[in-house]
Amino acid sequence: MTRTAEIIGVGSYLPEGRITNADLERMVDTSDEWIVTRTGIRERPIADEGQATSDLAIRAGQAALAVAGVAPEDVDLLIMATSTPDMVFPSTGCLTQAGLGLSCPAFDVNAACTGFIYALQTATSAIESGRADTVLLIGADTLTRFVDFTDRTTCILFGDGAGAVVLRAAESGGVRGIALGADGKRGSMLYVPAGGSAMPASAETVANREHYIRMNGNEVFKFAVRVIPETTNAALAQSGVDVGDLAWLIPHQANQRILDTIAERLGVSHERVFSNVANTANTSAASIPLALDDLYTSGRLAAGDLLALVGFGAGLTWGAAVVEWTKTTPGKEA
Ligand code: UT7
Repeated sequence: MTRTAEIIGVGSYLPEGRITNADLERMVDTSDEWIVTRTGIRERPIADEGQATSDLAIRAGQAALAVAGVAPEDVDLLIMATSTPDMVFPSTGCLTQAGLGLSCPAFDVNAACTGFIYALQTATSAIESGRADTVLLIGADTLTRFVDFTDRTTCILFGDGAGAVVLRAAESGGVRGIALGADGKRGSMLYVPAGGSAMPASAETVANREHYIRMNGNEVFKFAVRVIPETTNAALAQSGVDVGDLAWLIPHQANQRILDTIAERLGVSHERVFSNVANTANTSAASIPLALDDLYTSGRLAAGDLLALVGFGAGLTWGAAVVEWTKTTPGKEA
């Protein structure tokens, strides 16, 4: 009998604080007009001072478990996709496991903004192989903690948030195919120089602002608009799904211009390309499950819908998954 991994619950959490374009105009030499035209972003959720990545993850995890109707003791594995852990160790997965009252194994996957797709492959493999029946997968990041708010080229882009899905073994539906890629030679296009073993944090690294994100925005943009169509097509081919049959293309939310370009290159109409980048900005590993939760709670997903989820980011990494949605729309349960 075939074993597939279907999504039986989805949840998310955005902190209440917001950084608006007007706030940024007061911090750096920029304008609302420039930011909206070049990125489509209007505001970014920002974690409260006392909130770490695990705090956001716990809220998203609770919501997804409630939607799935799964009790903590029934979760076999917790996978956390994050590149902004609470601390070097213990893992944010372990901190979240404790916060959720779970007793299963827990660990982190770091593939930056592609983290959710990488972790989805790990979760799906665990289920398909029979090593787990129920997996909680959370994408959570607090990138604003790693943003240099004196650097206008990066501080406009990022926000904080968490999204989660519960996956369970099924006989059909769910994850149909996943394509992943990486090119470590181009790691320096998007990185945080200090704070790891290569350049431990010191008074000097802090003074040089080396514990913040550095990015070659132009190159990352070109990479994104090339790789997203390629990896989406690879996942579609693996799944035997035609691009025209997709109900939704759900890309990592980084820049509205990237979303518009890939829609054109893939031949998907703009109405079928999910976008909430104006109000959530780039929440890294959280952006795809946040999008799924937005679509689900607003009643825009129906059982049988075919979805393509696609991410790209630091590493460089990229990946896409084709998922057959099997959950009934809220309020339309039998
Ligand atoms: O998950 C992956 C994360 N990263 C990304 O997705 C980033 C992808 N890249 C991008 O989204 C875009 O490259 C940016 C939004 C970062 C930049 O947009 P761009 O259209 O590529 O602008 P640019 O870097 O070519 O800069 C154009 C001009 C420059 O001025 P000069 O040299 O032409 O005089 C910049 O200095 O815009 C200037 N600029 C700004 N001006 C006002 C750069 N940032 C700003 C700003 N406000 N915030």
